[in-house]
Amino acid sequence: MGRKLPKILITAGPTREYLDPTRFMSNPSSGKMGLYLAEEAKRRGCDSLLILGPSQLTTEGIKTIRIVSARDLFENVKKYFKQYDVLIMAAAVSDYRPIKYLKTKMKKEKKSKWIKLVLNPDILSWAGRNKKGHLLVGFAAETNDVIRNAQKKLKKKNLDMIVANQVGMDHVGFNATDIQYSIIETEGEALPMSQTSKRGLSKIIIEKVIKKYQLWK
Ligand code: PMT
Repeated sequence: MGRKLPKILITAGPTREYLDPTRFMSNPSSGKMGLYLAEEAKRRGCDSLLILGPSQLTTEGIKTIRIVSARDLFENVKKYFKQYDVLIMAAAVSDYRPIKYLKTKMKKEKKSKWIKLVLNPDILSWAGRNKKGHLLVGFAAETNDVIRNAQKKLKKKNLDMIVANQVGMDHVGFNATDIQYSIIETEGEALPMSQTSKRGLSKIIIEKVIKKYQLWK
């Protein structure tokens, strides 16, 4: 009988923050990174759950919950967190939402309009404050100072591992097949930035998560 395997909760894709029934703010995340992580977790025999935002992807054979907004995502992470050993937050969660939701379509009147935004809950920071023996893996989407900014998030959110990745360039990051990344763990130095396919990176991350979990248990 092989070593015990972790139960892995994975979030993926964008969130959509609606202003009125016809308009929302979001980001270009496709959900690929998180879906590949969930597929790799399943291939390795781990019981996993994927919480996925609006995405064109089909999640054949993967236990999936669909969400729309950051608050929906937060509700689901809080609901399932205790049942899982590992949380991997690959989702591109919108930091802000419009302070007011308009029940009817905003009329085109003046030349310009102000939209007041309010902060969404920081889900990973909540997990960092409420972890009980969990392994927490975050992603940092950075356009500059990628490793330094990711190291700050690793500490600030009380994570065990963070995947620093370059966004804002057209051949990696959001919706791309490839990713330019470094993996930073609490006890270790940041790996030098390198580029691989998201499928390849999902294998590296799940392998690391299983190894770390089995070291702990
Ligand atoms: O989905 P793809 O098209 O494959 O693209 C993959 C990706 C670029 C979306 C992915 O690699 C990635 O970088 N995901 C994280 C995007 C993001 O929100 O990064 P961030 O640096 O803004 O957030 C840091 C961490 O905090 C993330 O793990 C995020 O899930 C989490 N977060 C952010 C905001 C918030 N309110 N709550 C959170 O939990």
